[in-house]
Amino acid sequence: MEFSIKQGSPDKLRSGCCVIGVFENGKLSEQGQQLDRAAGHRLSDLIARGDMTGKNATTLMVPQMEGISAERVLLIGLGKQAEISAKSYLEALKAMSRALQQTVSKDAAVCLQDIEVPECSEEWKIRHCILSISESAYRPDQLKSKPATPGTLKKITLITAGKPGVAMQRAVTQAAAIATGVDLCRELGDLPGNICTPTYLAARALALGKTHKTIKTTVLEESHMRKLGMGAFLSVTKGTEQPAKLISLEYQGAEKSQKPVVLVGKGITFDSGGVSLKPGAEMDEMKYDMSGAASVLGTIQAIAEMGLKLNVVGVIPSCENLPSGSATKPGDIVTSMSGQTIEVLNTDAEGRLILCDALTFSAKFKPDTVIDIATLTGACVIALGNVASGLYSNQDALAQDLLAAANFTHDKAWQMPLWDDYQPQLESNFADMQNIGGRAGGSITAACFLARFTKAYRWAHLDIAGTAWKSGKDKGATGRPVPLLTQYLISRAAQ
Ligand code: BES
Ligand code: MN
Ligand code: ZN
Repeated sequence: MEFSIKQGSPDKLRSGCCVIGVFENGKLSEQGQQLDRAAGHRLSDLIARGDMTGKNATTLMVPQMEGISAERVLLIGLGKQAEISAKSYLEALKAMSRALQQTVSKDAAVCLQDIEVPECSEEWKIRHCILSISESAYRPDQLKSKPATPGTLKKITLITAGKPGVAMQRAVTQAAAIATGVDLCRELGDLPGNICTPTYLAARALALGKTHKTIKTTVLEESHMRKLGMGAFLSVTKGTEQPAKLISLEYQGAEKSQKPVVLVGKGITFDSGGVSLKPGAEMDEMKYDMSGAASVLGTIQAIAEMGLKLNVVGVIPSCENLPSGSATKPGDIVTSMSGQTIEVLNTDAEGRLILCDALTFSAKFKPDTVIDIATLTGACVIALGNVASGLYSNQDALAQDLLAAANFTHDKAWQMPLWDDYQPQLESNFADMQNIGGRAGGSITAACFLARFTKAYRWAHLDIAGTAWKSGKDKGATGRPVPLLTQYLISRAAQ
Protein backbone atom coordinates (compact mmCIF):
# COMPACT_ATOMS: atom_id res chain seq x y z
CA MET A 1 0.00 0.00 0.00
CA GLU A 2 1.10 3.56 -0.75
CA PHE A 3 0.84 6.33 1.83
CA SER A 4 1.24 10.09 1.54
CA ILE A 5 0.20 13.30 3.26
CA LYS A 6 -0.86 16.59 1.71
CA GLN A 7 -2.81 19.75 2.19
CA GLY A 8 -6.24 19.68 0.63
CA SER A 9 -9.86 20.63 0.78
CA PRO A 10 -12.01 17.56 1.47
CA ASP A 11 -14.85 18.40 -0.94
CA LYS A 12 -12.53 18.76 -3.95
CA LEU A 13 -10.51 15.58 -3.40
CA ARG A 14 -10.99 12.98 -6.07
CA SER A 15 -10.87 9.67 -4.22
CA GLY A 16 -12.76 6.44 -3.71
CA CYS A 17 -13.55 7.35 -0.14
CA CYS A 18 -13.19 10.44 2.01
CA VAL A 19 -12.96 9.76 5.75
CA ILE A 20 -14.43 12.34 8.13
CA GLY A 21 -14.75 12.55 11.92
CA VAL A 22 -17.97 13.23 13.84
CA PHE A 23 -18.15 13.99 17.56
CA GLU A 24 -20.81 12.57 19.83
CA ASN A 25 -22.90 15.75 20.02
CA GLY A 26 -23.31 15.41 16.26
CA LYS A 27 -20.74 18.08 15.51
CA LEU A 28 -18.62 17.41 12.45
CA SER A 29 -14.87 18.04 12.50
CA GLU A 30 -13.64 21.21 10.76
CA GLN A 31 -12.91 19.31 7.56
CA GLY A 32 -16.26 17.55 7.92
CA GLN A 33 -18.08 20.87 8.11
CA GLN A 34 -16.38 22.00 4.93
CA LEU A 35 -17.51 18.82 3.21
CA ASP A 36 -21.01 19.20 4.59
CA ARG A 37 -21.36 22.73 3.19
CA ALA A 38 -20.25 21.53 -0.25
CA ALA A 39 -22.80 18.69 -0.06
CA GLY A 40 -25.69 21.01 0.74
CA HIS A 41 -25.74 19.82 4.38
CA ARG A 42 -26.61 16.23 3.51
CA LEU A 43 -24.20 14.99 6.16
CA SER A 44 -25.63 17.11 8.96
CA ASP A 45 -29.11 15.99 7.86
CA LEU A 46 -28.07 12.35 8.26
CA ILE A 47 -26.65 13.10 11.69
CA ALA A 48 -29.75 15.05 12.76
CA ARG A 49 -31.88 12.06 11.72
CA GLY A 50 -29.78 9.81 13.96
CA ASP A 51 -28.08 7.70 11.28
CA MET A 52 -24.76 8.56 12.91
CA THR A 53 -24.55 9.37 16.61
CA GLY A 54 -20.83 10.10 16.74
CA LYS A 55 -20.34 7.46 19.42
CA ASN A 56 -16.68 6.50 19.41
CA ALA A 57 -15.58 3.95 16.81
CA THR A 58 -18.93 3.76 15.04
CA THR A 59 -18.98 4.16 11.26
CA LEU A 60 -21.38 5.13 8.52
CA MET A 61 -20.65 4.79 4.81
CA VAL A 62 -22.45 7.39 2.75
CA PRO A 63 -22.65 6.88 -1.03
CA GLN A 64 -21.89 9.54 -3.61
CA MET A 65 -23.24 13.02 -2.91
CA GLU A 66 -23.63 15.91 -5.27
CA GLY A 67 -21.07 18.66 -4.75
CA ILE A 68 -18.39 16.28 -3.49
CA SER A 69 -15.65 14.82 -5.68
CA ALA A 70 -15.10 11.68 -3.58
CA GLU A 71 -17.13 8.61 -4.59
CA ARG A 72 -18.23 8.00 -1.01
CA VAL A 73 -17.82 9.45 2.46
CA LEU A 74 -17.01 7.39 5.52
CA LEU A 75 -18.13 8.98 8.77
CA ILE A 76 -16.19 7.93 11.86
CA GLY A 77 -17.55 8.49 15.36
CA LEU A 78 -14.95 10.05 17.66
CA GLY A 79 -16.96 10.14 20.89
CA LYS A 80 -17.32 13.24 23.05
CA GLN A 81 -14.83 15.89 21.93
CA ALA A 82 -13.81 16.69 25.51
CA GLU A 83 -13.16 13.02 26.27
CA ILE A 84 -11.07 12.12 23.25
CA SER A 85 -7.92 10.27 24.25
CA ALA A 86 -5.09 8.32 22.65
CA LYS A 87 -7.00 5.12 23.38
CA SER A 88 -10.33 6.31 21.97
CA TYR A 89 -8.62 7.73 18.88
CA LEU A 90 -6.87 4.40 18.26
CA GLU A 91 -10.21 2.59 18.55
CA ALA A 92 -11.72 5.00 16.02
CA LEU A 93 -8.79 4.39 13.66
CA LYS A 94 -9.33 0.66 13.95
CA ALA A 95 -13.02 1.01 13.12
CA MET A 96 -12.11 3.18 10.13
CA SER A 97 -9.52 0.67 8.91
CA ARG A 98 -12.02 -2.18 9.05
CA ALA A 99 -14.71 -0.16 7.29
CA LEU A 100 -12.27 0.82 4.54
CA GLN A 101 -11.58 -2.86 3.90
CA GLN A 102 -15.31 -3.39 3.30
CA THR A 103 -15.46 -0.92 0.40
CA VAL A 104 -14.38 -1.36 -3.18
CA SER A 105 -12.45 1.92 -3.08
CA LYS A 106 -8.99 1.81 -4.62
CA ASP A 107 -7.87 4.84 -2.67
CA ALA A 108 -8.94 6.88 0.32
CA ALA A 109 -8.46 10.42 1.59
CA VAL A 110 -8.33 10.37 5.38
CA CYS A 111 -9.22 13.61 7.16
CA LEU A 112 -8.53 12.67 10.79
CA GLN A 113 -5.06 14.15 11.16
CA ASP A 114 -6.32 17.58 12.29
CA ILE A 115 -8.35 16.14 15.20
CA GLU A 116 -6.83 17.32 18.48
CA VAL A 117 -5.83 14.37 20.66
CA PRO A 118 -4.42 15.40 24.06
CA GLU A 119 -0.72 14.61 24.49
CA CYS A 120 -0.47 13.09 21.01
CA SER A 121 1.83 14.61 18.41
CA GLU A 122 1.23 14.95 14.66
CA GLU A 123 3.81 12.22 14.23
CA TRP A 124 1.94 9.92 16.58
CA LYS A 125 -1.35 10.40 14.71
CA ILE A 126 0.33 9.75 11.36
CA ARG A 127 2.08 6.64 12.67
CA HIS A 128 -1.05 5.05 14.10
CA CYS A 129 -3.29 5.95 11.18
CA ILE A 130 -0.93 4.28 8.71
CA LEU A 131 -0.19 1.22 10.85
CA SER A 132 -3.87 0.72 11.59
CA ILE A 133 -4.89 0.77 7.91
CA SER A 134 -2.01 -1.49 6.96
CA GLU A 135 -2.83 -3.93 9.75
CA SER A 136 -6.42 -4.31 8.54
CA ALA A 137 -5.24 -4.93 4.99
CA TYR A 138 -3.15 -7.96 5.98
CA ARG A 139 -4.55 -11.33 4.77
CA PRO A 140 -2.98 -14.61 5.97
CA ASP A 141 -4.33 -16.48 2.97
CA GLN A 142 -1.29 -17.01 0.77
CA LEU A 143 -1.62 -20.79 1.13
CA LYS A 144 -5.32 -21.02 0.33
CA SER A 145 -5.90 -22.47 -3.15
CA LYS A 146 -8.29 -19.58 -3.82
CA PRO A 147 -7.14 -16.60 -1.79
CA ALA A 148 -9.98 -14.55 -0.29
CA THR A 149 -10.89 -11.53 -2.41
CA PRO A 150 -7.98 -9.15 -2.01
CA GLY A 151 -8.64 -5.74 -0.49
CA THR A 152 -8.92 -3.20 -3.29
CA LEU A 153 -7.41 -0.36 -1.27
CA LYS A 154 -4.00 0.60 -2.65
CA LYS A 155 -3.43 4.27 -1.94
CA ILE A 156 -4.01 6.31 1.21
CA THR A 157 -3.63 10.07 1.43
CA LEU A 158 -3.78 11.83 4.77
CA ILE A 159 -5.36 15.25 4.28
CA THR A 160 -4.47 18.26 6.41
CA ALA A 161 -5.87 21.81 6.31
CA GLY A 162 -2.38 23.34 6.58
CA LYS A 163 0.71 22.43 4.61
CA PRO A 164 2.42 19.44 6.24
CA GLY A 165 6.07 20.13 7.11
CA VAL A 166 9.14 17.96 6.62
CA ALA A 167 8.72 16.30 10.02
CA MET A 168 5.25 15.14 9.02
CA GLN A 169 6.48 13.92 5.64
CA ARG A 170 9.22 11.98 7.41
CA ALA A 171 6.66 10.51 9.81
CA VAL A 172 4.75 9.14 6.81
CA THR A 173 7.89 7.56 5.32
CA GLN A 174 8.76 6.01 8.67
CA ALA A 175 5.25 4.70 9.34
CA ALA A 176 5.00 3.21 5.84
CA ALA A 177 8.36 1.49 6.36
CA ILE A 178 7.28 0.11 9.73
CA ALA A 179 4.09 -1.18 8.10
CA THR A 180 6.17 -3.26 5.66
CA GLY A 181 8.22 -4.58 8.58
CA VAL A 182 5.10 -5.57 10.52
CA ASP A 183 3.75 -7.28 7.40
CA LEU A 184 6.94 -9.28 6.93
CA CYS A 185 6.95 -10.30 10.58
CA ARG A 186 3.34 -11.49 10.38
CA GLU A 187 3.81 -13.29 7.08
CA LEU A 188 6.80 -15.27 8.41
CA GLY A 189 5.06 -16.05 11.70
CA ASP A 190 1.93 -17.34 10.01
CA LEU A 191 3.85 -19.62 7.64
CA PRO A 192 3.74 -23.27 8.77
CA GLY A 193 6.80 -25.13 10.02
CA ASN A 194 7.02 -27.29 6.89
CA ILE A 195 7.63 -24.19 4.80
CA CYS A 196 9.25 -21.77 7.23
CA THR A 197 12.32 -23.84 8.13
CA PRO A 198 15.71 -22.46 9.25
CA THR A 199 16.83 -22.73 5.61
CA TYR A 200 13.78 -20.71 4.54
CA LEU A 201 14.45 -17.99 7.12
CA ALA A 202 18.06 -17.82 5.92
CA ALA A 203 16.86 -17.46 2.32
CA ARG A 204 14.54 -14.59 3.31
CA ALA A 205 17.39 -12.92 5.20
CA LEU A 206 19.66 -13.26 2.15
CA ALA A 207 16.87 -11.80 0.00
CA LEU A 208 16.72 -8.74 2.29
CA GLY A 209 20.44 -8.30 1.69
CA LYS A 210 19.81 -8.43 -2.08
CA THR A 211 17.05 -5.81 -1.98
CA HIS A 212 18.89 -3.37 0.26
CA LYS A 213 22.52 -2.63 -0.38
CA THR A 214 22.77 -1.32 3.19
CA ILE A 215 22.23 -4.89 4.49
CA LYS A 216 24.92 -7.56 4.47
CA THR A 217 23.61 -11.04 5.30
CA THR A 218 25.81 -13.93 6.42
CA VAL A 219 24.59 -17.48 7.10
CA LEU A 220 26.71 -19.85 9.18
CA GLU A 221 26.24 -23.63 8.91
CA GLU A 222 26.44 -26.21 11.72
CA SER A 223 30.07 -27.09 10.90
CA HIS A 224 31.01 -23.47 11.55
CA MET A 225 28.99 -23.37 14.79
CA ARG A 226 30.81 -26.50 15.94
CA LYS A 227 34.13 -24.72 15.41
CA LEU A 228 32.84 -21.76 17.43
CA GLY A 229 31.96 -24.15 20.26
CA MET A 230 28.22 -23.53 20.23
CA GLY A 231 27.41 -26.70 22.16
CA ALA A 232 24.20 -25.29 23.66
CA PHE A 233 22.68 -24.21 20.32
CA LEU A 234 23.74 -27.45 18.61
CA SER A 235 22.22 -29.59 21.37
CA VAL A 236 18.77 -28.30 20.41
CA THR A 237 19.04 -29.19 16.72
CA LYS A 238 20.26 -32.75 17.32
CA GLY A 239 16.83 -34.36 16.91
CA THR A 240 15.94 -32.94 13.50
CA GLU A 241 16.99 -33.48 9.92
CA GLN A 242 16.62 -29.81 9.03
CA PRO A 243 20.01 -28.07 9.21
CA ALA A 244 20.35 -25.29 11.79
CA LYS A 245 21.39 -21.82 10.61
CA LEU A 246 22.98 -18.87 12.34
CA ILE A 247 21.95 -15.79 10.40
CA SER A 248 23.51 -12.32 10.75
CA LEU A 249 22.21 -9.20 9.02
CA GLU A 250 24.46 -6.16 9.29
CA TYR A 251 22.62 -2.93 8.48
CA GLN A 252 24.94 -0.01 8.04
CA GLY A 253 23.12 3.32 8.25
CA ALA A 254 25.85 5.33 9.98
CA GLU A 255 29.65 5.59 9.93
CA LYS A 256 31.42 2.27 10.29
CA SER A 257 32.96 3.40 13.58
CA GLN A 258 29.55 3.66 15.30
CA LYS A 259 28.93 0.67 17.55
CA PRO A 260 25.77 -1.18 16.52
CA VAL A 261 22.62 -2.12 18.33
CA VAL A 262 22.39 -5.91 18.03
CA LEU A 263 18.95 -7.54 17.88
CA VAL A 264 18.96 -11.27 18.63
CA GLY A 265 15.79 -13.17 17.65
CA LYS A 266 14.81 -16.67 18.75
CA GLY A 267 14.25 -18.65 15.56
CA ILE A 268 12.83 -22.04 16.58
CA THR A 269 10.78 -22.81 13.47
CA PHE A 270 8.92 -25.54 15.35
CA ASP A 271 9.06 -26.35 19.05
CA SER A 272 7.68 -29.79 19.86
CA GLY A 273 9.49 -29.69 23.19
CA GLY A 274 11.93 -32.37 22.03
CA VAL A 275 12.19 -35.50 24.22
CA SER A 276 10.39 -33.49 26.94
CA LEU A 277 7.49 -33.52 24.47
CA LYS A 278 4.78 -30.88 24.77
CA PRO A 279 1.12 -31.91 25.16
CA GLY A 280 -0.73 -32.16 21.82
CA ALA A 281 -3.34 -29.45 22.32
CA GLU A 282 -2.45 -26.32 20.39
CA MET A 283 1.00 -27.65 19.60
CA ASP A 284 0.56 -26.21 16.08
CA GLU A 285 1.03 -22.77 17.62
CA MET A 286 4.67 -23.62 18.21
CA LYS A 287 5.24 -22.74 14.55
CA TYR A 288 5.23 -19.21 16.01
CA ASP A 289 8.33 -20.00 18.09
CA MET A 290 10.37 -18.11 15.48
CA SER A 291 8.46 -14.88 16.10
CA GLY A 292 11.51 -13.25 17.70
CA ALA A 293 13.46 -13.97 14.52
CA ALA A 294 10.58 -12.66 12.40
CA SER A 295 10.51 -9.43 14.42
CA VAL A 296 14.23 -8.95 13.85
CA LEU A 297 13.79 -9.41 10.08
CA GLY A 298 10.78 -7.08 10.09
CA THR A 299 12.63 -4.42 12.07
CA ILE A 300 15.73 -4.60 9.86
CA GLN A 301 13.54 -4.31 6.77
CA ALA A 302 11.71 -1.30 8.27
CA ILE A 303 14.87 0.63 9.13
CA ALA A 304 16.43 -0.19 5.75
CA GLU A 305 13.30 1.08 3.96
CA MET A 306 13.38 4.35 5.90
CA GLY A 307 17.16 4.66 5.61
CA LEU A 308 17.64 5.10 9.35
CA LYS A 309 21.01 6.63 10.26
CA LEU A 310 22.11 4.00 12.75
CA ASN A 311 24.09 0.77 12.67
CA VAL A 312 22.04 -2.28 13.58
CA VAL A 313 22.86 -5.98 13.44
CA GLY A 314 20.30 -8.78 13.46
CA VAL A 315 21.43 -12.16 14.79
CA ILE A 316 19.11 -15.15 14.35
CA PRO A 317 19.88 -18.61 15.72
CA SER A 318 17.43 -20.89 13.96
CA CYS A 319 16.62 -24.59 14.23
CA GLU A 320 13.81 -27.05 14.98
CA ASN A 321 13.26 -28.70 18.37
CA LEU A 322 12.17 -32.30 17.68
CA PRO A 323 12.50 -35.66 19.45
CA SER A 324 14.35 -38.55 17.81
CA GLY A 325 16.96 -41.22 18.56
CA SER A 326 19.67 -38.63 18.21
CA ALA A 327 17.95 -35.88 20.21
CA THR A 328 19.32 -34.37 23.42
CA LYS A 329 17.96 -36.15 26.53
CA PRO A 330 17.00 -34.73 29.91
CA GLY A 331 20.13 -34.83 32.07
CA ASP A 332 22.55 -34.30 29.17
CA ILE A 333 25.27 -31.76 29.92
CA VAL A 334 26.44 -29.43 27.17
CA THR A 335 29.16 -26.78 26.91
CA SER A 336 28.10 -23.35 25.66
CA MET A 337 30.27 -21.09 23.51
CA SER A 338 31.01 -19.05 26.65
CA GLY A 339 32.61 -22.15 28.21
CA GLN A 340 29.89 -22.42 30.88
CA THR A 341 28.35 -25.90 31.12
CA ILE A 342 24.60 -26.49 31.22
CA GLU A 343 22.62 -29.46 32.49
CA VAL A 344 19.60 -29.83 30.18
CA LEU A 345 16.90 -30.94 32.60
CA ASN A 346 14.08 -30.16 30.21
CA THR A 347 14.60 -30.18 26.43
CA ASP A 348 11.56 -27.92 26.10
CA ALA A 349 13.53 -25.05 27.65
CA GLU A 350 15.40 -24.82 24.33
CA GLY A 351 15.06 -21.12 23.58
CA ARG A 352 17.60 -20.10 26.21
CA LEU A 353 20.01 -22.74 24.85
CA ILE A 354 20.09 -21.31 21.35
CA LEU A 355 20.00 -17.73 22.64
CA CYS A 356 22.89 -18.07 25.09
CA ASP A 357 25.27 -19.01 22.27
CA ALA A 358 23.84 -16.35 19.95
CA LEU A 359 24.32 -13.78 22.74
CA THR A 360 27.96 -14.83 23.25
CA PHE A 361 28.45 -14.71 19.47
CA SER A 362 26.96 -11.17 19.36
CA ALA A 363 29.94 -9.77 21.27
CA LYS A 364 31.94 -10.04 18.04
CA PHE A 365 29.99 -7.08 16.63
CA LYS A 366 31.34 -4.89 19.49
CA PRO A 367 27.80 -3.86 20.35
CA ASP A 368 26.67 -0.68 22.05
CA THR A 369 23.51 -2.50 23.14
CA VAL A 370 22.11 -6.00 22.66
CA ILE A 371 18.38 -6.75 22.75
CA ASP A 372 17.06 -10.28 22.42
CA ILE A 373 13.48 -11.00 21.44
CA ALA A 374 12.03 -14.43 22.18
CA THR A 375 8.82 -16.40 22.63
CA LEU A 376 10.65 -17.74 25.65
CA THR A 377 8.23 -18.86 28.35
CA GLY A 378 4.63 -19.88 28.90
CA ALA A 379 5.13 -18.38 32.35
CA CYS A 380 5.34 -14.91 30.81
CA VAL A 381 1.87 -15.42 29.34
CA ILE A 382 0.61 -16.37 32.82
CA ALA A 383 2.21 -13.23 34.29
CA LEU A 384 1.29 -10.59 31.69
CA GLY A 385 -1.36 -12.21 29.50
CA ASN A 386 -1.54 -11.20 25.86
CA VAL A 387 -1.26 -7.46 26.50
CA ALA A 388 2.34 -6.69 27.43
CA SER A 389 5.67 -8.24 26.51
CA GLY A 390 7.96 -8.98 29.46
CA LEU A 391 10.93 -6.62 29.57
CA TYR A 392 14.18 -7.33 31.41
CA SER A 393 17.40 -5.34 31.37
CA ASN A 394 20.76 -5.16 33.09
CA GLN A 395 20.66 -1.36 32.69
CA ASP A 396 17.70 0.69 33.86
CA ALA A 397 18.22 3.54 31.36
CA LEU A 398 17.87 1.03 28.52
CA ALA A 399 14.69 -0.37 30.06
CA GLN A 400 13.29 3.17 30.30
CA ASP A 401 14.09 3.86 26.61
CA LEU A 402 12.36 0.66 25.57
CA LEU A 403 9.34 1.43 27.75
CA ALA A 404 9.09 4.90 26.17
CA ALA A 405 9.06 3.28 22.72
CA ALA A 406 6.45 0.80 23.92
CA ASN A 407 4.23 3.61 25.18
CA PHE A 408 4.52 5.66 21.99
CA THR A 409 3.64 2.70 19.79
CA HIS A 410 1.11 1.10 22.17
CA ASP A 411 3.14 -2.06 21.58
CA LYS A 412 3.12 -2.52 25.33
CA ALA A 413 5.89 -3.88 27.53
CA TRP A 414 6.20 -4.22 31.29
CA GLN A 415 9.47 -4.33 33.20
CA MET A 416 10.14 -7.45 35.25
CA PRO A 417 12.85 -8.00 37.89
CA LEU A 418 16.22 -9.49 37.01
CA TRP A 419 17.42 -9.70 40.60
CA ASP A 420 20.22 -12.08 41.56
CA ASP A 421 17.90 -13.42 44.26
CA TYR A 422 16.43 -15.69 41.56
CA GLN A 423 19.79 -17.07 40.40
CA PRO A 424 20.00 -19.95 42.98
CA GLN A 425 17.02 -21.59 41.22
CA LEU A 426 19.38 -22.34 38.31
CA GLU A 427 22.07 -24.09 40.35
CA SER A 428 22.96 -27.65 39.31
CA ASN A 429 24.85 -30.41 41.15
CA PHE A 430 26.61 -31.50 37.98
CA ALA A 431 27.13 -28.46 35.73
CA ASP A 432 27.61 -24.68 36.05
CA MET A 433 23.85 -24.30 35.78
CA GLN A 434 20.69 -26.12 34.77
CA ASN A 435 18.35 -24.92 32.04
CA ILE A 436 15.19 -24.72 34.17
CA GLY A 437 14.47 -22.96 37.44
CA GLY A 438 11.25 -24.61 38.57
CA ARG A 439 7.67 -23.35 38.29
CA ALA A 440 8.07 -20.26 40.45
CA GLY A 441 8.92 -17.15 38.41
CA GLY A 442 9.46 -19.10 35.21
CA SER A 443 9.80 -16.05 32.95
CA ILE A 444 12.21 -14.42 35.42
CA THR A 445 14.49 -17.44 35.82
CA ALA A 446 14.64 -17.78 32.01
CA ALA A 447 15.82 -14.15 31.83
CA CYS A 448 18.27 -14.80 34.69
CA PHE A 449 19.68 -17.71 32.69
CA LEU A 450 20.34 -15.38 29.73
CA ALA A 451 21.83 -12.76 32.07
CA ARG A 452 24.70 -15.17 32.78
CA PHE A 453 25.77 -14.75 29.14
CA THR A 454 25.35 -10.98 28.74
CA LYS A 455 27.61 -9.50 31.40
CA ALA A 456 29.95 -7.94 28.80
CA TYR A 457 27.43 -5.41 27.44
CA ARG A 458 24.27 -3.40 27.92
CA TRP A 459 21.44 -5.83 27.35
CA ALA A 460 17.67 -6.16 27.36
CA HIS A 461 15.42 -9.15 26.85
CA LEU A 462 11.84 -9.10 25.56
CA ASP A 463 9.74 -12.18 26.30
CA ILE A 464 7.05 -12.00 23.60
CA ALA A 465 5.42 -15.39 24.29
CA GLY A 466 2.05 -13.71 24.98
CA THR A 467 2.16 -10.95 22.39
CA ALA A 468 3.61 -12.35 19.14
CA TRP A 469 0.46 -14.10 18.00
CA LYS A 470 -3.23 -14.49 18.78
CA SER A 471 -4.90 -17.85 19.44
CA GLY A 472 -8.46 -18.98 18.77
CA LYS A 473 -10.74 -17.76 16.00
CA ASP A 474 -8.44 -14.85 15.14
CA LYS A 475 -5.33 -17.03 15.20
CA GLY A 476 -2.50 -15.18 13.56
CA ALA A 477 0.73 -13.29 14.00
CA THR A 478 0.50 -9.75 15.41
CA GLY A 479 3.74 -8.32 14.04
CA ARG A 480 4.76 -7.34 17.57
CA PRO A 481 7.23 -6.09 18.72
CA VAL A 482 8.31 -4.58 15.38
CA PRO A 483 6.66 -1.20 16.22
CA LEU A 484 8.38 -1.09 19.62
CA LEU A 485 11.82 -2.05 18.32
CA THR A 486 11.70 0.30 15.34
CA GLN A 487 10.58 3.19 17.52
CA TYR A 488 13.42 2.51 19.94
CA LEU A 489 15.89 2.61 17.04
CA ILE A 490 14.32 5.78 15.58
CA SER A 491 14.73 7.50 18.96
CA ARG A 492 18.31 6.26 19.20
CA ALA A 493 19.13 7.62 15.74
CA ALA A 494 17.66 11.01 16.69
CA GLN A 495 19.91 11.36 19.76
N1 BES B 1 8.42 -21.74 23.10
C1 BES B 1 8.15 -22.11 24.43
C2 BES B 1 7.46 -21.01 25.23
C3 BES B 1 6.02 -20.78 24.93
C4 BES B 1 5.06 -21.66 25.40
C5 BES B 1 5.61 -19.66 24.27
C6 BES B 1 3.72 -21.41 25.16
C7 BES B 1 4.29 -19.40 24.05
C8 BES B 1 3.34 -20.29 24.49
C9 BES B 1 9.45 -22.44 25.16
O1 BES B 1 10.43 -23.03 24.38
C10 BES B 1 9.10 -23.41 26.23
O2 BES B 1 8.69 -24.49 25.92
N2 BES B 1 9.28 -23.02 27.48
C11 BES B 1 8.95 -23.84 28.58
C12 BES B 1 10.03 -23.68 29.61
C13 BES B 1 9.91 -24.66 30.75
C14 BES B 1 10.17 -26.05 30.27
C15 BES B 1 10.90 -24.26 31.82
C16 BES B 1 7.61 -23.39 29.13
O3 BES B 1 7.36 -22.19 29.15
O4 BES B 1 6.79 -24.24 29.45
MN1 MN C 1 10.18 -25.15 24.31
ZN1 ZN D 1 10.38 -22.62 22.41
